[in-house]
Order: sequence, then C-alpha cells, then structure tokens
Amino acid sequence: MRRILVAGNWKMNLLADAGTSLSQALAAKYPIAAVEVLICPAFPYLSGVAATIRGSAVQLGAQNLYFSPQGAFTGEVSGDMLKDVGCGWVLVGHSERRQFFGEQDELLAKKVAAGLQHGLKVVLCVGELLTERQSGQMEAVLKKQMAGLALVSAEQMANVVIAYEPVWAIGTGVTASTEQAQQAHAFLRGQLTSRYGDAVSATTRILYGGSVKADNALELLSQPDVDGALVGGASLKADSFIAIVEAGIQAMSHKR
Ligand code: PGA
Repeated sequence: MRRILVAGNWKMNLLADAGTSLSQALAAKYPIAAVEVLICPAFPYLSGVAATIRGSAVQLGAQNLYFSPQGAFTGEVSGDMLKDVGCGWVLVGHSERRQFFGEQDELLAKKVAAGLQHGLKVVLCVGELLTERQSGQMEAVLKKQMAGLALVSAEQMANVVIAYEPVWAIGTGVTASTEQAQQAHAFLRGQLTSRYGDAVSATTRILYGGSVKADNALELLSQPDVDGALVGGASLKADSFIAIVEAGIQAMSHKR
C-alpha cells in the first residue's frame, strides 16, 4: 500500500506573513493526517515555517539544493543546511530548474544522491514538453530523465518519490487527462521495475503534477498508479490546498 503524498510547491511566492498564515492554517487542520502532507517554501522562510508546523503532521521540504556539503559555491544551499533548518524533503529537477536554469540529468543525479546522503527524502521531478509529446517522444524523454536515479541504490529508493509533471500542464490550467496521467505513471513504474525490480517499483510513490486543483484532484488521485500530487498554484491558499489533501484522503480510502 502506497501512502498518498500531497505536496505544495510554493515556488518563488509568498512573503513571510502569507507563508506563516498558510502554514499555521495547515498545521491547525492536520495535527495528524491520513495522508502525507508536505509544503516547500522558498529558502529564506524554511526556518520560520519549520517552527510554525512543528508538532503537526505537515512536513517541510525545500525546492532545490546543491550537491556539495559546503564550500565556495556562492548563492547555493547544501543538503546539510536544509536538514539543519528542519527540512525532511527536497525537490530535485523541477521542470523550471531544467528549463530556466539549465539543470541536466547528470547534475540532477548528483543532487538526488546528495539529498539522500544528508538524510533528506527526495522528490525527483520528470516530465515531457508539449513538442516532445506531440512528436511521440514522451516515453523516450521520461526514460532519459529517470537517469536522475543513476546514483541511487535499491535500498535508498525507500526515500525517493517520483513526480510526473508534463511541462505543458504546469501553471497553464491544462491538466493531463486521467488517462494520460495513468499511462505515463504506468510507464514510469515500468522503468522502476527495470531499474530496481518489482518490490521497489510496487512501493515507490509516483506523484502527478500540473494544474492539480480541488476539482480534478480526486479523479487523478484515484488512478491506480497515481500516488499523490505535486501542487503549485493551488498550494498557495489554505482552502484549495486543504481541498486537495482531503481528496487525497478520500482516494486513499478507496484504494484500501
Ligand atoms: P501548478 O504547478 O500546479 O501551478 O501547475 C505544479 C508544479 O510546477 O509543481
């Protein structure tokens, strides 16, 4: 049984006051939770949000890290530092990192490994561009991006989650259909089987991301290979994020 994970990626949004009220609302709603709930604020606010959610079921993650533990890397943040300020998770390889900051699979593999070495759980994001889907390359692209797992052992996979985020569905209001999502997730699970075997493949969670909202979450999360959601825009307000978490709880009870 894979426990549903609903993760909010705040991206470069929310100043201190807004982030504090949002995280307070979530912590108050989820002192305990039937699904896993994760929020990923921007770096400057991690410590503050860590204090706000302490003692609740809400978990804290960062949106990025650098692979070296310390040193002369101006502007970068290490896994050690993230752990130190209270993060349990880190996102790696979000499409915005790939598109706007040129991050490629070889670098991402080092980041995934570094996150795990520092005791963080890692969400590795993969997903094809619209042109890649239209030209029939979706599977080839996803297979290539799974190279982000190049340095991860089967044992370490217990701390890795994959997020399938078709780039054409991110922030566009266009969601992948449930069939498209399920099909891509099943393909990714097959990739996990060929890399790690059935046991790892059957227990690794694969999240869907890309315009997940309160009104499409339940259908997406009810798909057999969709084990959670990575939510951008709709994670910035308590009511819409809570509605998605609640959909996760409902989907989870159906899957039992
Ligand atoms: P969105 O973003 O929900 O705003 O489409 C998802 C993501 O980029 O993680």
